[in-house]
Amino acid sequence: AQRKLIDMVLALFRLTQEQLVGVQDKMRAELEYGLKRDTHPLATVKMLPTYVCGMPDGTEKGKFLALDLGGTNFRVLLVKIRSGRRSVRMYNKIFAIPLEIMQGTGEELFDHIVQCIADFLDYMGLKGAQLPLGFTFSFPCRQASIDKGTLIGWTKGFKATDCEGEDVVDMLREAIKRRNEFDLDIVAVVNDTVGTMMTCGYEDPNCEIGLIAGTGSNLCYMEEMRNIEQVEGDEGKMCINTEWGGFGDNGCIDDIRTQYDKEVDEGSLNPGKQRYEKMTSGMYLGEIVRQILIDLTKQGLLFRGQISERLRTRGIFETKFLSQIESDRLALLQVRRILQQLGLDSTCEDSIVVKEVCGAVSRRAAQLCGAGLAAIVEKRREDQGLEHMRITVGVDGTLYKLHPHFSRLLQETVKELAPRCDVTFMLSEDGSGKGAALITAVAKRLQQAGK
Ligand code: BG6
Ligand code: GLC
Repeated sequence: AQRKLIDMVLALFRLTQEQLVGVQDKMRAELEYGLKRDTHPLATVKMLPTYVCGMPDGTEKGKFLALDLGGTNFRVLLVKIRSGRRSVRMYNKIFAIPLEIMQGTGEELFDHIVQCIADFLDYMGLKGAQLPLGFTFSFPCRQASIDKGTLIGWTKGFKATDCEGEDVVDMLREAIKRRNEFDLDIVAVVNDTVGTMMTCGYEDPNCEIGLIAGTGSNLCYMEEMRNIEQVEGDEGKMCINTEWGGFGDNGCIDDIRTQYDKEVDEGSLNPGKQRYEKMTSGMYLGEIVRQILIDLTKQGLLFRGQISERLRTRGIFETKFLSQIESDRLALLQVRRILQQLGLDSTCEDSIVVKEVCGAVSRRAAQLCGAGLAAIVEKRREDQGLEHMRITVGVDGTLYKLHPHFSRLLQETVKELAPRCDVTFMLSEDGSGKGAALITAVAKRLQQAGK
């Protein structure tokens, strides 16, 4: 009888092929909506123009600074690009962003960023250097050019005040001015998906999609200019940052959301927003698991019916724990040990159930992400009038990289839902900073040519 109750909960996370096709179709409709000039107030996939119009051609060169803000790590990088041989050398340093800064004031956040740049320049022996800078800023920004980006709204774990509606490039410039120690030429602001696509595109020119499955979930791709009503001109292509994490914010996938998804949403920094992201990305999967475990414990099906203080604590199941728990090589005893580390006393049966719960949640995440990606590749194929299409997707993110099954399930789903597309997945080894530097190099060249 107990088993039945557990199975009932797990079944909520099992999506049929039909349901996945439903998600794919709805995503497709939302993509088309978002591309329209007068974006409908209920259109939830923002489809933001990025003003990145082409891939690097190998002639880029020079020394660039890059910032990478918004994923697990905040990095400052120095990127040296040599033309011709497509060789890039990078030096980087990871800096912490304390929670009180992520959720403090905008001024404090940008002062902190500039402090980190100062430390890095010092460390590299580049004090006083005047370098062009590319800023990977992994949040939704409305852009009017490559070097302007107005933050639409924070996502993931950030919530600094007085930033929404402001140009983040201006905010960075002002913070540099306040410090009055060095001058930097901020040339480009790019989303992490775009940086990732460029990083991979430098090796494979067929890479026209960038996907992040990490703390957050998002995708960018090269779209025909004639389909982008928000931007003048019909020639060529431009990269669109879909911000697909907001898919479903109008309720269009509520039929597959569970009570646990709703609880996770309500307990988050941005209730009601980023509903698809909250079902598919690293920051939230552990939270879904935790909500299920709480419910099963309440029903007396786990942990001897005792809800510990730890289990009540938000954020205990990080992606790395989920990945460890689901690893096939791990004996159940080791699963119990991990749970122990998390302050959860489990029996052998408990550990089996926990592993099943993690599996159900991450499988659904990978499949949903795959359905979204299938919608994009099918759109690209149809737009080009191709019977068959080959395309490369540049991918980054801890969920994709660390989880033992996520990438495989994602790929299988895309194959099933977009059988006429031959999709190659290319892991970004160098992060998005390299891509941001390449975009900066191109923008700088165009800037100088225009002068
Ligand atoms: C990194 C990129 O490798 O991956 C970042 O350089 C990106 O720009 C990040 O945000 C995404 O993954 P995660 O898991 O760190 O959010
Ligand atoms: C969130 C952000 C988006 C970013 C993604 C991955 O969805 O809104 O801009 O690309 O996380 O980091």
